Amino acid sequence: MKQLYSKQAIARQTARIGTEISRDYQGLEIILVVVLKGAMFFAADLARTINNDVNVKIDFIRVSSYGTSTESCGVVTFKTDIETDISGKHVVLVEDILDSGLTLFELQKHLQKRQPASLKVCTLFDKPGNRVVAINPDYCGFSIKNDFIIGYGLDYAERYRNLSAVYRFDPEQHQSTTGES
Ligand code: IMP
Ligand code: MG
Repeated sequence: MKQLYSKQAIARQTARIGTEISRDYQGLEIILVVVLKGAMFFAADLARTINNDVNVKIDFIRVSSYGTSTESCGVVTFKTDIETDISGKHVVLVEDILDSGLTLFELQKHLQKRQPASLKVCTLFDKPGNRVVAINPDYCGFSIKNDFIIGYGLDYAERYRNLSAVYRFDPEQHQSTTGES
């Protein structure tokens, strides 16, 4: 597997986004809504780069849009909802990767119904070339090609989330070396 983004490069972009969020929400309260499971590593690091002038609360939402394949199936299933009442609150949705946009599109619809004061989207990776619905991140770490990537929260069939760097993943090569499908 080829390493595309080092631990250090990820930390740099995360800190840059943390500075942007600190500037945009200075003196305010925000709810970071972390999209499980993929965004948990990014969100944990990001939250710690936001300065003390922002009152940060954290909640989680769990959806699944990918089975074990590397292509979006286009159906988003809600598994666990947030516990916080977000009405009138500033919300930042934290995602690992924005691909077709279908997951975030459904999540935005779901959260907008609760009438937050504002709702922004923060993603570590963006694949703008794969977009099916018109959605753009307000905060983005890396804009990337359409490679399938793993590591730092991103999985292939639930594996590799624990890697500290991000790698390009080739499912065909994976099959030929492991015999797994
Ligand atoms: P979307 O709904 O197509 O935008 O896909 C978003 C979700 O698909 C992300 O939250 C990831 O879980 C998954 N995903 C998309 N691209 C990749 C990838 O390159 N590696 C791992 N997961 C991915
Ligand atoms: Mg996933």
